[in-house]
Amino acid sequence: MNSLVVYFSKFGNTQIVAKAIAGVLAKGGEARLVNSDELSLRDLEETDFLVMGSPTHKMNLPLNVRPVFERLPKRILRGKPVAAFDTSYRMSWWLNQYTAGKRLVKKLRKLGGKSIVPAEIFLVTGREGPLYDGEIERAKQWADLLLEKVKK
Ligand SMILES: Cc1cc2nc3c(=O)[nH]c(=O)nc-3n(C[C@H](O)[C@H](O)[C@H](O)COP(=O)(O)O)c2cc1C
Repeated sequence: MNSLVVYFSKFGNTQIVAKAIAGVLAKGGEARLVNSDELSLRDLEETDFLVMGSPTHKMNLPLNVRPVFERLPKRILRGKPVAAFDTSYRMSWWLNQYTAGKRLVKKLRKLGGKSIVPAEIFLVTGREGPLYDGEIERAKQWADLLLEKVKK
């Protein structure tokens, strides 16, 4: 199985999480890590499973990430399993509805992707990080769950 982990990261925390996830997905076959600025159509066409991650900015996707979706053909992910995550502050439960990961799941589904798990949040201690202790381990566990689900 070819997996692709696409991420955007301003301060490096989302990149750390994305790397940890790709490391685990490599147990199931090839797993590539690509910055969202460098994502090509070919990357998407060749992948069997797509994971996308981004920091939450102003309760939404960062402005840099939104154009990525504008240049993709409709339904390019038709029938492919997809999952998404974000890095965010620790928030009250109602603010948890407005995360980059949830927005990403919506975008990926619109492109035809089949969401296999709810969006996941990995927590940073402040605007520039670092991640809370244990979050990288939790990201690895989440990636193990993704592998299990995608194999079914
Ligand atoms: C302009 C800006 C807006 C942000 N808005 C939010 C927000 O609405 N909710 C939140 O949880 N975190 C917010 N953050 C914190 C980011 O989630 C944090 O910078 C990010 O997780 C760090 O990831 P990175 O190192 O990959 O950039 C914001 C950060 C920036 C720079």
